[in-house]
Amino acid sequence: MKTIKSILLGTAIVLISSAVMAQAKPWVVPAEYKNMKNPVANNDASVKAGMALYVKNCASCHGKTGLGDGVKARALKEFPGDFSGAAYQNQTDGEHFYKTKFGRGEMPKYEGKISDEDIWNIVNYMRTFKK
Ligand code: HEC
Repeated sequence: MKTIKSILLGTAIVLISSAVMAQAKPWVVPAEYKNMKNPVANNDASVKAGMALYVKNCASCHGKTGLGDGVKARALKEFPGDFSGAAYQNQTDGEHFYKTKFGRGEMPKYEGKISDEDIWNIVNYMRTFKK
């Protein structure tokens, strides 16, 4: 009996941990996007345009300062990320662009809702969150 119990317990642990690991899977961005050059210069006008769009579309989940603490964040299963930290800031502009444009899971897809140029403006604005 004891062995069966420990086998069952062992199986349960393996299943649960693989489910957790599946959730935290890395978000792989295709090389063509990862290496894409940001066509919009990161200047005051771009950052200002990006800020307005960010406040309207993104802050509800990602938080005003990008810490992942927006009002909707508590209801999410997935942590939206901390845009002030290295894990985010060390990614390329192309990676931020790709993730914003195509989304995944609870992260909405903005393709067709926000123009490419405006997504780049938001990408430029999100650089201001760097600690
Ligand atoms: C409904 C909530 C929600 C909204 C609104 C939202 N996001 Fe997200 N976002 C998420 C979640 C959840 C994740 C994590 C997804 C994952 O890892 O599977 C995420 C992830 C991201 C990432 C990847 C972060 C990283 O560390 O790699 C970027 C970039 C991003 N969002 C940008 C945006 C932008 C820009 C907007 C607005 C135009 C936006 N998001 C609006 C929930 C949201």
